[in-house]
Amino acid sequence: MPDAYILGIESSCDETAAAVVRSGEQVISNVVFSQIATHAQYGGVVPELASREHLRAIVPVVRKALDDAKRTYQSVDALAVTQGPGLPGALLVGISYAKALAFALDKPLIAVNHLEGHIHAVLLEEKQKGNREMRFPVLALVVSGGHTHLYLAEERERGWTYQNIGHTRDDAAGEAFDKVAKLLGMGYPGGPVIDKLSKFGEPHAVKFPMPQIKHRDRREQGQPEPEGPRFDFSYSGIKTSVLRYVEKNQLQAAIAARRRKLAAIAKPSVEEYRAACEQSTLDLVASFQRTMVRDLVEKTLAAARECDVATVFVTGGVAANNELRQTFEQEAARQGLPVYFPSRQLSTDNAAMIAAAAYPKFLVQDFAPADFSAEAGMRLV
Ligand code: KG4
Ligand code: ZN
Repeated sequence: MPDAYILGIESSCDETAAAVVRSGEQVISNVVFSQIATHAQYGGVVPELASREHLRAIVPVVRKALDDAKRTYQSVDALAVTQGPGLPGALLVGISYAKALAFALDKPLIAVNHLEGHIHAVLLEEKQKGNREMRFPVLALVVSGGHTHLYLAEERERGWTYQNIGHTRDDAAGEAFDKVAKLLGMGYPGGPVIDKLSKFGEPHAVKFPMPQIKHRDRREQGQPEPEGPRFDFSYSGIKTSVLRYVEKNQLQAAIAARRRKLAAIAKPSVEEYRAACEQSTLDLVASFQRTMVRDLVEKTLAAARECDVATVFVTGGVAANNELRQTFEQEAARQGLPVYFPSRQLSTDNAAMIAAAAYPKFLVQDFAPADFSAEAGMRLV
């Protein structure tokens, strides 16, 4: 099979990204333009602003990905673009541009599910490292600002198949990190800040109850019985618990002061964040992170045992979290299960994962029809 160079384009949320990947196994270039600075002042992604920023960035970002790869537009074999899930206006920018480019170049265009992309970020990097020992089936935890999903993933003759065996019933895990950080006056996005500050706090200081969701709960709610085992998550309760803790301990004034202090610094360093927090806040943050990590690890490994998988993947923005990585490694080793993460760079949104997920589709000529469009609520099946 000759090498295939795929140009990937990703614009589902607040990163405009383009990358060139060779045959799903080597990143040739990877360009990510983050809009964090635009959205930070609003404490979250503003969809309308995201679309405008994508429109501004898409042409230079794609051009840079090709320049970095020392490739011309004509020399790529196919284009790949995120179809969904994501913000509709943001997705449409990437899709319109990819369609126009594919049409002008007369190259095939491949539509990729963003969640499938996160899973392929792991496969891509393992192949790049020369790891040919991967055992299947895989259980993949996709955990980001918009998603907390568990998928059983397998490679079949005509590409990859995925079965969702669990998801969050309310907030995504990354959303909980972001909302708690916002609540505590630490800015956006919250995950990286909480990750860095947690090591200065006492993780057992505050107890947060986590709901144990039973399969039975669904029947009681009158919902249809799902097929196969379900391992659902729920993270809106912990956010409310943090809010109650803040109220009970009258932390509001300290939070307002921290918010003002940090707003005056363009890009606060870890030491500046730390200096803006009392020890009790550092303890609160460390306890929150520990609870989140324990819940994600326990539920994922319970699912891995029940489904008898050979390998676990942890991917998506929250997979960049240090405590999550360490705890997964320790606990999975105890069960004799290999666990793989993407590098931090490929954990958060990027286009290399989109180009990598497109490669198996390229091999079977699974190309997007000319009339395909964005699917904001796209599911992975
Ligand atoms: O995958 P991603 O870039 O975008 C989505 O598809 O949502 O994930 C972004 C999310 C944000 O919620 C961010 O706070 C979280 O990932 N995140 C982290 C860390 N780095 C990013 N959460 C915890 N610890 C981190 N180090
Ligand atoms: Zn993502």
